[in-house]
Amino acid sequence: MMKILPSILSAHFAYLADEVHDVARDVDMIHVDVMDGRFVPNITMGANVVEALKRESKVAQDVHLMVEEPIHLLPDFLAAGADMISVHVEACKHVHRAIQIIKEGGAKAGVALNPATPAAVLDSILRDVDYVLIMTVDPGFGGQRFIPSMLHKIRAVARMIQEKQVPVKIEVDGGINSETLPLCLEAGAELFVAGSAIFNAEDRHAAIETLLRSAQE
Ligand code: DX5
Ligand code: ZN
Repeated sequence: MMKILPSILSAHFAYLADEVHDVARDVDMIHVDVMDGRFVPNITMGANVVEALKRESKVAQDVHLMVEEPIHLLPDFLAAGADMISVHVEACKHVHRAIQIIKEGGAKAGVALNPATPAAVLDSILRDVDYVLIMTVDPGFGGQRFIPSMLHKIRAVARMIQEKQVPVKIEVDGGINSETLPLCLEAGAELFVAGSAIFNAEDRHAAIETLLRSAQE
């Protein structure tokens, strides 16, 4: 079952709760981009925001950690109530340890891959994760253009999942709109993060509708 995850990176931060309530009428999960100013140039938000939004809304939270060596932060995000947490393979010396901590904390565990990171890195990880986050832009900013060659990577990962017969979902993040979503869906993605396509629209409900409709075309 495909799902749209609005990325609150493109929301109005001064009215974050209102922004979340707005999209929570149409989706059951949002995407929370955590940036540390080292793995990526920007700094965004931390576990305190996850916790505050948990108190405001029942909507599930998918936390994307764009953070160098994120292991020390995992307990805080788990305690804050994160429902899914992904760590970047490029940022973790000990990926399996991070995955174990996330799962033991009761959340779904994912690994994220930068566009230049080959799918082959998943060979020794795929059995251990609940989802793979394939970045379709270089992480760090909302509103960037989708990298078309990522469609090959989505297909390659979908093939690996099928060959290994593991219940792993493919999530895509970056430049997702009504043109790129159907291409990713066709390639095998199931979870679609969309920031600017939703929050830059005046009517977020209509924007989500447009994305959902594009999946049917
Ligand atoms: C990029 C973030 C994305 C971002 C996507 O580093 O990981 O989640 O919010 O934004 P759009 O959909 O505008 O490309
Ligand atoms: Zn993200």
